Amino acid sequence: MIITAPDEFNVPDLFIDVTGLLGMRAFLKCEQMNFAGSVKLKAARAMVTRAEEEGLLFPGMTLVESSSGNLGVALSLVAAARGYGFVCVTDSRCNAATIRLMTTLGAQVEVVTRPHPEHGLLGARLERVAELLRARPGHVWLNQYRNPANPGAHEMTTGPEILAAFPDVTTVFIGVGTAGTVMGCSAHLRAHAPGVRIVGIDSVGSVTFGAPAGVRHIPGLGAGVVPAQFRSAALDDHWNVPEADTVRMCRQLADRGFLFGGSTGTVLAGARAWLAEHPEARRGLCVAIAPDGGERYLDTLYDDSWVVERYGPHDDSEDTAWSSTRPTAGVLLPAGR
Ligand SMILES: Cc1ncc(COP(=O)(O)O)c(C=O)c1O
Repeated sequence: MIITAPDEFNVPDLFIDVTGLLGMRAFLKCEQMNFAGSVKLKAARAMVTRAEEEGLLFPGMTLVESSSGNLGVALSLVAAARGYGFVCVTDSRCNAATIRLMTTLGAQVEVVTRPHPEHGLLGARLERVAELLRARPGHVWLNQYRNPANPGAHEMTTGPEILAAFPDVTTVFIGVGTAGTVMGCSAHLRAHAPGVRIVGIDSVGSVTFGAPAGVRHIPGLGAGVVPAQFRSAALDDHWNVPEADTVRMCRQLADRGFLFGGSTGTVLAGARAWLAEHPEARRGLCVAIAPDGGERYLDTLYDDSWVVERYGPHDDSEDTAWSSTRPTAGVLLPAGR
């Protein structure tokens, strides 16, 4: 394969067999194998292309977007390739490595640290975007929370990719942030495989499924404001996962050599908990979506002091330990020190 632009490459058909983890035929769809390192390349590419087709964007103009990080990286890359400026408004949950990636790709990054009194950090980000648009004519907001090209990208790609690989899929577990992935996959699956159960997974503390707002530390999933494009009818069920369970799941996966980001841990922990309450679903085949890899989270999810500060010390039972149970895990000091 030969490409000329960084957004031309993606991997549609990489799945990990996680049957052992979930206790049923289960496959994890990996979305990080592209130059943006996450599922958000699909949304970024589709939203920029749509704005171009609608005559809203010309080289030299500047994009503005609110992002927890991954869309920001993806838009940085697409903006650089197509000759646009890009201002990303993110918040204090965004990983330092993600901010470095964006600035290295030429984006300007604004980090909001004070939550909106009612709508949290997302509310504060959206307020800052509105301020920037008022102050800077010629800036264009793609608005991933209500841009039809965001779910549209998944209706055209992720949904069909799942069915192409597993025509006999019976349950799909999808994390919900802006709801682009879940709404787009749901649209495709409802039209082409209406028997498939769609289970949305989110973090405890997110308001999207109607639960009360609470403190969250892991970027990617969750919202302090229900995303405008979210429709509960697109789901058959939903599940909220405590962030401590996310960390445990991520570390269990790392122990087996698979380094994933927080929302993958959340989706798999949610799938496991949901399946425990729905044993009948185990007779089928499930697919869960992994939105990104773990390298951007080395200083957070995979850093013991970061984890203990936020979620407290682990107890001694193997199931709840934060740290690896493998004898060689951790930094090996040279002999004699
Ligand atoms: C790591 C990660 N997981 C999950 C999501 C959620 O995807 P969506 O916005 O399509 O709901 C995002 C979106 O930013 C993300 O960055």
